[in-house]
Amino acid sequence: MAREGYINLHLAQHKRSKTPGDSDQMMKSRQRFLNAGYYQCLAESVAELIKQESICAVKTLLDIGCGEGYYLQYLSQIKAIENLNLIGIDISKSGVKLAAKRHIDAQLIVDSAYNLPLFNTSIDVVLSIFSPLCPKETARVLKPGGVLIMVGPGEQHLSGLTTHIYDQHQPHQGNFKLIDEQGLFALKKSTNLQQNISVKKTDIENLLTMTPYYWHTSPEQKKLLSSLPVLITPIEFHLRVYEKISS
Ligand SMILES: C[S@@+](CC[C@H](N)C(=O)[O-])C[C@H]1O[C@@H](n2cnc3c(N)ncnc32)[C@H](O)[C@@H]1O
Repeated sequence: MAREGYINLHLAQHKRSKTPGDSDQMMKSRQRFLNAGYYQCLAESVAELIKQESICAVKTLLDIGCGEGYYLQYLSQIKAIENLNLIGIDISKSGVKLAAKRHIDAQLIVDSAYNLPLFNTSIDVVLSIFSPLCPKETARVLKPGGVLIMVGPGEQHLSGLTTHIYDQHQPHQGNFKLIDEQGLFALKKSTNLQQNISVKKTDIENLLTMTPYYWHTSPEQKKLLSSLPVLITPIEFHLRVYEKISS
C-alpha cells in the first residue's frame, strides 16, 4: 500500500520491463491535456452510457487501463450517477500515482489487465478507454449480465495532428476485433462521437507526447508543431457496449 493510497500488486517478480505501461512523461502530458477539457465530450458520453445501464442500486465499475484517472474523477463527480463503487487498474505505477493524487473516492491498483486481482463475477461495469484488455479475464470478473463499455479511436481521430507527421493519416487500431472474435460478449450498442477541437499552443506538445505518435515524430516535425499558434483536429471515438454472454 503506497503512501498516496493506491495498492501496488505488480511487483518486480511479475514485471517484464522495469517501468511497464505508459511512461511518466506520457501520463503527465495526458493529465494536462485531459484536464484542459479537450475530451470532456467523451467523458460525458461514457457517463451517459453508464447511466443507461445503471438500473438498480449500487454498481461496481472497474476502469481497466485507467491511466492518470481523468475518467474516474469525472464519474466520481457527476450527480447523475450515484452509488458507483469505482475501481481503477493500470500497469503503470506513474499513472496510478497521479490518479491517487486526484483524491477520488476510488480503489486504485497497479496491476495487469491480464491478471486482475478481483473475485469472479464481482463487477457490474467494465470500462476500457483506449486501453489493452484481456477478454477472458474481463469476462471472469464481470457479473452475469454485466457490461463492458469500450472506447476506441475512429478513422479521423487526431488526423489534424498526424498530417504533420505522416504522408498519410494512419488511424490507430482499437481492440474491438479482439472482443468480437472471442465469443464471450454480445454487442448491445454502438455509437460514434466526432468533434473538431482547437488545441491551444501550450497544449500541442502535451497532445503529441501523450500519444504513441510521439515516437514517430522527427525533431523538425516537433519544431514545426510547436511553432503553430493553434492545432485544429477532428477527434473521433467509437463507443461500444457489450454484454457478457452467460456460459
Ligand atoms: C492510451 S492509455 C489510456 C489511458 C486512459 N484510459 C485514458 O484514456 O486516458 C493506455 C493505458 O493502458 C495502460 N496499460 C498498458 N498495458 C496494460 C496492461 N497490461 N494492464 C493494464 N494497463 C495497461 C497504460 O499504462 C495506459 O495507462
